[in-house]
Amino acid sequence: MASKLFRTKSIDQLIADSELPEHRLKKSLSALSLTALGIGAIIGSGIFITTGTAAAGEVDRYPSLLQAPLLSVLLHGKHAIGVMGRPGAGPAIALSFLFVAIACGFAGLCYAELASMIPIAGSAYTYTYATLGELIAWIIGWDLILEYAVSNMAVAVGFSAYIDSLLSGLGLHLSNRWTTPTYSPLTGWTDHYNLAGFIIVMLITVLLVIGIRESAGANTIMVAIKLAAIGAFVWAGSHYIKPVNWKPFMPNGWQGVLTGGAIVFFTYIGFDSVSTAAEECKNPSRDVPLGIMFSLAICAALYIAVAVVLTGMEKWNTLNNAAPVALALHAVHLFMTERWVTVGALMGMISSILVFQLGQARIWYAMSRDGLLPPAFSRVHKRFRTPAVSTWIAGFVVAIPAGLFDIGTLVNLSNIGTLFAFILVSIAVLVLRKKQPDRKRGFRVPFHPWFPLLSLACCFVLMASLTVENWIRFVVWLAIGLVIYFRYSRKHSAMERQAPAE
Ligand code: ALA
Repeated sequence: MASKLFRTKSIDQLIADSELPEHRLKKSLSALSLTALGIGAIIGSGIFITTGTAAAGEVDRYPSLLQAPLLSVLLHGKHAIGVMGRPGAGPAIALSFLFVAIACGFAGLCYAELASMIPIAGSAYTYTYATLGELIAWIIGWDLILEYAVSNMAVAVGFSAYIDSLLSGLGLHLSNRWTTPTYSPLTGWTDHYNLAGFIIVMLITVLLVIGIRESAGANTIMVAIKLAAIGAFVWAGSHYIKPVNWKPFMPNGWQGVLTGGAIVFFTYIGFDSVSTAAEECKNPSRDVPLGIMFSLAICAALYIAVAVVLTGMEKWNTLNNAAPVALALHAVHLFMTERWVTVGALMGMISSILVFQLGQARIWYAMSRDGLLPPAFSRVHKRFRTPAVSTWIAGFVVAIPAGLFDIGTLVNLSNIGTLFAFILVSIAVLVLRKKQPDRKRGFRVPFHPWFPLLSLACCFVLMASLTVENWIRFVVWLAIGLVIYFRYSRKHSAMERQAPAE
């Protein structure tokens, strides 16, 4: 039994399977298009929405232990209740961005090493299947749904908010009934539905079914527009900085910086999705590590610039609102720039949804190829050569809840799931260096084992900075996944069919 749970796929077998004609994907991506895909995934709604609340914090809004960060509960026990709610990072949110970029950098190096050894669709799922065994691979595949699907729901909700603000600026006011979620902690259940979120996800699904080349092309244009918009904010806003706003720099000390980091971690989610497209690359062992590191470095520089300018324009404790970047421009009467930045933000969200939907469908595709999900998920469209069935399913799975839930709940859940995936990937690098030291690696994490260990430690600290309630939701999610594994996937696994030969 234990040997079945920890059975691993051989890396040679993984590569051979992906070459079977009925599973072969089109190989059309280069390092440049991968970097564009990476930036497309990374810059979504996070920078435009979470920066303000992470800087400002939420004072005294947490009435119970469930809503306190796990780290505070571990350190202060029941005194964590209502001490200060979630502490804001203040102007030091720029430091949070830096810390999280470094943490993601360590994890990114681990992703790059694995992707350069195992250039197969499926990302962390595939890597863990080859290293830590089937059960852990299933757990990570299940967990990645939190990263891809749930964060996309959050981005779609952000999209809807910005569309609403753009249209209001043009004098077009949409009814609340179609722009707010069915459920939020403030309103409870209502008969509202966030329609724009649903529509955008379904439109993108159609684009992805038609083909990756077309999608990557559209993505490159959108990436250019959103970069220009962020540049416009930084440039225009920098003329309105009042240095007095940067004092005190760290109003809530390092705890504020870490808690802020656990929230803005959301803004970096996505760089790892570059590796999910490894099977569709021309030269994966060189292009994937380059794509990951370039996209991460460019985004880190932009985020830190936005954070410095934003907290210089407005006092940090006034930033807790849904559109801090746009409102900061509004406050200094830069209305044209505000509109331009809003359009860029919308583009950002579209390209982020696009890459995540692409990644999600390919993870399901890989899991189905291994028999852990039903065969329909790995059917490739005859004409377009894309995993059409998983793409459609991913579309509905994300679009429907995007209209139902509020952004805060979705952001926190996707952060904890992603951090857990990063931890498993770092462990996979350590295990594989021991088990298969001689296998060819197009890229090697430097300072092994220290960098993978640092990646583990940073991700754990960020996870512990999220609330207890969030940890409980995460554990429940994993438990549901385990039930599905033991009732369906274990028996249908392709490895099970090969078992007599083992
Ligand atoms: N990183 C993506 C965003 O910020 C998920 O929206």
